[in-house]
Amino acid sequence: MSESPGLVAVSDLYVRFPIRSKGKKAYITPVDHVSFAIERGEVLSLVGESGSGKTTIGKALMRILEPTSGTITVAQRDVTHIRGNALVEYRRDVQMIFQDPFGSLNPVRTVEQHVMFPLRKHRNLKDAALQEALESLLERVGLTPVAEIRVKNPHELSGGQRQRVAIARALAVNPKFLVADEPISMLDVSIRAGILRLMNDLKADYNLSYLYITHDLASARYFGDRIMVMYGGQIMETAKSNELVRKPAHPYTRLLLAATPGNPVRQALPETSNAAPNLLEGRKGCPFADRCPFVTELCRETAPQLLSVDAAHSVACHHPIV
Ligand SMILES: Nc1ncnc2c1ncn2[C@@H]1O[C@H](COP(=O)(O)OP(=O)(O)O)[C@@H](O)[C@H]1O
Ligand SMILES: [Mg+2]
Repeated sequence: MSESPGLVAVSDLYVRFPIRSKGKKAYITPVDHVSFAIERGEVLSLVGESGSGKTTIGKALMRILEPTSGTITVAQRDVTHIRGNALVEYRRDVQMIFQDPFGSLNPVRTVEQHVMFPLRKHRNLKDAALQEALESLLERVGLTPVAEIRVKNPHELSGGQRQRVAIARALAVNPKFLVADEPISMLDVSIRAGILRLMNDLKADYNLSYLYITHDLASARYFGDRIMVMYGGQIMETAKSNELVRKPAHPYTRLLLAATPGNPVRQALPETSNAAPNLLEGRKGCPFADRCPFVTELCRETAPQLLSVDAAHSVACHHPIV
């Protein structure tokens, strides 16, 4: 029997954006030679603070933007530079749920219009069968009573209900893979768990895989089978969720954990600066060097490679804590 192949394979992904720096044209590279894979049915949590390049990875996977170099393979198909019909077809397999459910919904469309549009377009259903599919989908994501909620506009819904509409709309095309970009961070704390639980339940029902983007390690651990920690456009550490939380090897992961309430590895670490990472193309050394309590000259000169420290556990650090 052959091994089940990975669903998503990202290899040496590089994305740069032109900017003006000191009056001159320059580039920033928020995704700087990033490689990872996601198995079928797996949830990979991508964790990192604001500006570390998480959304840019999500957009590259969705092909909302085209990578500068590297490759993205989904279900054995290279989608890095596809266009036209191939891209339209690809977007049936991958869907994105955004941070701001208000911004991603059309204020003059009702709930049912949001979900009906992709349902009609992507599924070969008519009349009663289409109505039935709509109702069962709204019910599945908890938009009940359906008869009451289907005719509402986004402004008549709570933040959590809006995010449920965004989830229903994504599911309407029967995707294989969802990129959920900080889907709960703009919601009231009291309703976050319900949305995460829904996404978790849908995983089994729809045979889904996820890239779950968050800046919060607690939810990354709850939802993710594996966690990948990013800083300044590069992967710092990746491991199974429990392993990463129990045995963090990268100083940045340790700092993130120390800031998470109720965590086992809650220890004092030296104060570091909170400067934003330098994303300028051609920078040298470890992106975290300026903030790292254990920095040495080597760290400032040479970027560490992402190396394996244990089965399924890799870290990019010259001085890992192992
Ligand atoms: N289209 C763009 N043009 C120029 N810079 C961009 C663009 N999109 C993102 N950036 C910059 O790339 C960096 C990473 O952004 P992003 O991927 O949104 O990070 P995160 O999601 O981790 O907060 C930020 O400095 C952001 O300002
Ligand atoms: Mg983001």
